[in-house]
Amino acid sequence: MSSLLPNGRSIVLIGLMGCGKSTVGRELSRATSFPFLDTDMLIEEQVGMEIPQIFAELGEPRFRALETALLNYLRDNPSSRSSGIIATGGGMILRPENRLILRSLGFVVWLDVDLPNLLSRTARAQNRPLLHIEDRESRLRELMDIRSPLYEQTAHLRINSSNLKASQVVDLILQHAHTFFASPPSNEAT
Ligand code: S3P
Repeated sequence: MSSLLPNGRSIVLIGLMGCGKSTVGRELSRATSFPFLDTDMLIEEQVGMEIPQIFAELGEPRFRALETALLNYLRDNPSSRSSGIIATGGGMILRPENRLILRSLGFVVWLDVDLPNLLSRTARAQNRPLLHIEDRESRLRELMDIRSPLYEQTAHLRINSSNLKASQVVDLILQHAHTFFASPPSNEAT
């Protein structure tokens, strides 16, 4: 399985908060022995603050700039420490330049989960400042409306994972990743 990813290439997970990027990413990492990277965690380590504190003290625009800087770093330093299985923050696809960089990193998979599942999966999370509001359903619906076309245009593969177990999602991703890396789109090879 360790021959899955060509040198410096990654499997990149995108999707809304609560879609399972971290769970699936960790399981993919275990299944393939490639390192697991989480862009939120890398930013937290770099800044020395947790995401809610970054939003409160530095503001969302600064957080978005940190996301872009991190993606640039990952693209420019394709080593065994900066590639593997990458879970991204839900808003990573908002900037056009991020969408291009994400595709250049490797195989991009959108975990598409329906609203009821997102609502229940984010019910107890305290670490998501965008959901620190009374009406989480309206907020998630709004984010879904705005972002779905952006996830769509960024992803090489969309998986409707609402009713799938993490292990089933992992199996699907691995099947498609083998095909992708055997013949990646020629205009995206790094
Ligand atoms: C965000 C999603 C979060 C985190 C930040 C903003 C978003 O990551 O990056 O709170 O804009 O959707 P997760 O999708 O991992 O929760």
